[in-house]
Amino acid sequence: MNLKAKLKVTSYQKKFLSTDYYIDKDGILRDRTKANKALIGGFGTGKTYSLCIKIIQRIQFRTKQKKRHIGICTAPVNSHFVDVLIPQLDTVLDRYRFKYKFNQVDKIYYINHGGFNHKIHLKSSEQAKAGRLVGINATDGYHDEFDVNKNETQKKLWESVEARLRDCIDPTQSIATTPEKVGYCEWLCNSSKDVNWNGDKVNNTESIVEYIRAETKDNAFLADASGYVERLRSLYTPKQVEAYLKGYFVNLIGNRVWEYFNEETHVKEISKSYGTIVSFWDFGWNDFTYCGFASISANNGQLSKVKILDEFRVNKMTTEMIHEKYKELCVKWGKPIADYCDPAGNQHHLGSKMGLSVIEQFKAMGLNMKFQSSNIIEGIVIGNNLLHKQLIEINTICKHFIKMMINSSYEELKNGTKSEKPVHGEYESAEAGFRYLMINEFRSFYRTMLRG
Ligand SMILES: Nc1ncnc2c1ncn2[C@@H]1O[C@H](COP(=O)(O)OP(=O)(O)O)[C@@H](O)[C@H]1O
Ligand SMILES: [Mg+2]
Repeated sequence: MNLKAKLKVTSYQKKFLSTDYYIDKDGILRDRTKANKALIGGFGTGKTYSLCIKIIQRIQFRTKQKKRHIGICTAPVNSHFVDVLIPQLDTVLDRYRFKYKFNQVDKIYYINHGGFNHKIHLKSSEQAKAGRLVGINATDGYHDEFDVNKNETQKKLWESVEARLRDCIDPTQSIATTPEKVGYCEWLCNSSKDVNWNGDKVNNTESIVEYIRAETKDNAFLADASGYVERLRSLYTPKQVEAYLKGYFVNLIGNRVWEYFNEETHVKEISKSYGTIVSFWDFGWNDFTYCGFASISANNGQLSKVKILDEFRVNKMTTEMIHEKYKELCVKWGKPIADYCDPAGNQHHLGSKMGLSVIEQFKAMGLNMKFQSSNIIEGIVIGNNLLHKQLIEINTICKHFIKMMINSSYEELKNGTKSEKPVHGEYESAEAGFRYLMINEFRSFYRTMLRG
């Protein structure tokens, strides 16, 4: 490994790390540059790595201030820390020859630098939202994969970390995010605002966060940039790809609601299934509960087909009655190895006598309920991509599913243009269930495909 090359920073990283120190009249080291920064760029542009260098830089800054650095670093899920952030942070800490220990249980880094004991608390969005930041008096906050959180969660994360930044001069928050969504983060970065997040009129000329675009082409460390760009081009329109690569906020979903569904090519009569059986659900509390059965087959490790085999939809039934219907499909197609469902099933107690959530009730009946928090866009992008590649077949008997696919398109308006919002209507439960299947089963597949 070439150490010298590794320590180089790209032009956007320079901006992200830029500081303008000065000593104020009380002799305290201050930073004149805008405190909060967000790095916006696609996969592999180096955002996580930059966030790690940012942490080092803030530790150095606090040390010069003769203060200890207490950081809070959030990511949407704990596995992100284990798989990505911890290895990168270790690498960067080692390169800067910092002495540190990591407590696996509490997920806290203890860093000894310049005679101070600095800390970094790693917190998942769930923990942060559940108030697990209480008691931490931090100096700086960091958020990786900010856009993977829903907008309300982003707001909550930002505000709860802001509330913990006490007892220090020039606190900062830094964000790393893809430009894939337009929402709270964009609002934070947007200069010359005239409305606040709730839509009330205000007169803010300053944005809260400085927006730094990480252009994909700037990252010399990205191994196969051309392959990556090619893959993006196969998924999105040229305009979207252009914006994405340049780090402009872009709504990748655009007009893409199951736009690759084609009744003629995707709907077939299916009487037998090969491969792995899975089920996918959407629970309705006041409305329909949907359950679909699908088979997934692979050839030489490559996905060869997803077949939507069967389905049922019920209105306000007990979990026991739903389970009976499920068992009928198990006899017909085989028992699913996984049952993908709505994460909200954890909080709801459909007809429960023992205070168990719906997911707990089905688990007790021997189902293998799997759920992942997600954003809607991700499920649709993955699903469209598989439809586009003709990797999905839908059995003619799946009436609700097919109606849902036909209905979830954009309404054709009188003037020939398309409406801004898709029409969903009463088949929404099949739609949600299908997205859970796409996200739970294919998210990692899709991400590897994008990252290469
Ligand atoms: N300044 C840098 N020096 C060395 N490697 C870097 C630098 N910036 C990015 N990288 C490397 O580029 C790759 C992608 O970076 P990463 O931060 O994981 O991207 P992102 O979070 O944007 O998806 C990683 O292997 C990382 O080590
Ligand atoms: Mg990253």
